[in-house]
Amino acid sequence: MDFPSILRTSSELGQIQDIDILLERILFMARKVANADAGSIYEKQTVTEDGAEVDKLFFKYVQNDTLQKSLPSGEKLVYSRFYVPISKESISGYCAFTRQTVNLPDMYNIPEDAPYSFNSSFDKISGYKTTSTLTFPLATSERLLGVIQLINKKDAHGNVIPFSEEDEFVLTNFAATATAAMQRAILTRSMILRMIKMSELRDPAETGEHVNRVADYAVEIYDRWAHKHDVQSDEREKFRDILRIGAMLHDVGKVAISDMILKKPGRFTPEEFHVMKHHTVYGASLFCDTLSPMDKIAMDVALTHHENWDGKGYPGWIDPVSLAPLKHDDEGKPLGKKENEIPFAGRIVAIADVYDALCSKRVYKEPWSEEQVLEEMRALSGTRFDPELIDIFFEILPVIKNTQKLYAQQ
Ligand SMILES: [Fe+2]
Ligand SMILES: [Fe+2]
Repeated sequence: MDFPSILRTSSELGQIQDIDILLERILFMARKVANADAGSIYEKQTVTEDGAEVDKLFFKYVQNDTLQKSLPSGEKLVYSRFYVPISKESISGYCAFTRQTVNLPDMYNIPEDAPYSFNSSFDKISGYKTTSTLTFPLATSERLLGVIQLINKKDAHGNVIPFSEEDEFVLTNFAATATAAMQRAILTRSMILRMIKMSELRDPAETGEHVNRVADYAVEIYDRWAHKHDVQSDEREKFRDILRIGAMLHDVGKVAISDMILKKPGRFTPEEFHVMKHHTVYGASLFCDTLSPMDKIAMDVALTHHENWDGKGYPGWIDPVSLAPLKHDDEGKPLGKKENEIPFAGRIVAIADVYDALCSKRVYKEPWSEEQVLEEMRALSGTRFDPELIDIFFEILPVIKNTQKLYAQQ
């Protein structure tokens, strides 16, 4: 990797704010640098086991061009997530433990004196043949952030060949750039999670897991929409990044609502519901004084995720700072925003949020059955939800359900 391309990589990765979007991008770029057919990225996470905190590798994303090509256009690979101990037994664990790059020309012929072995269960399930791998750490001098494993380097004719010493060298430089971008994104994520923690203290339903699922569903809906509308990859990357963060913050305005209302076990009275509705404008007011695309989307999502496609949602045309109606009826009440008046991100998050709420237990209800949830989502098309986006939601339902499963596995 020459100096100009390192600079380009650094500025491209530096623009991504969300750590999950960044990890996918880092994996993609690393594969491109070494012409690897497939690869996976692991994130170091601290988990509690038998009352003690332990560092583990969490298998986060997988990319595989060969398997991807066997799927219909626009569809995504379905896979599971799992933890790997940071120890010498597995290749990724060894790499994390020793912080050394492991370059193996043939996974089915690992030297007998190697401390690690190859787990071929993925190959068995998928029918894919893993041959060459290059596994390298994403780490600063003080701490490990993750591990990348690149799989099956290809030559110009598409034959699988071993990774070279030059690949090792170039990817070491790449890893340094990627690690710097990760550190910043991890900091951004921890700030966001702190904001969410504050609203979670108020509203126990608004958990880190709920907001993460909502954010993932929102990105999946957007991805399929962008695929259908031929959105350029640059624009797509930027939007999914800020959408993910905006979606996580959809209900952050609940910090301003009283516990008496938020923690009420039953249904709200009309007065309580009126107060509750204000979480939208309170949330929006946190982001409306800055002009970065991320703040703009966070504001749009917070303000409009309860607007209805038919104009009967809330809070409608209202200024989030002064609370003055911007468009109102004869009685001075703000008119609801409808159809394309509702920002795109708000329409997407509305679907993701309602779906997750219906599938989850709340103080006032048990989780609905899958059949009931899907029936309700379909029934709300054109009234509560944007009909085009609901069609997309149903098209990608297997991916949404897989995401749901991935969180249950964590
Ligand atoms: Fe909300
Ligand atoms: Fe929510």
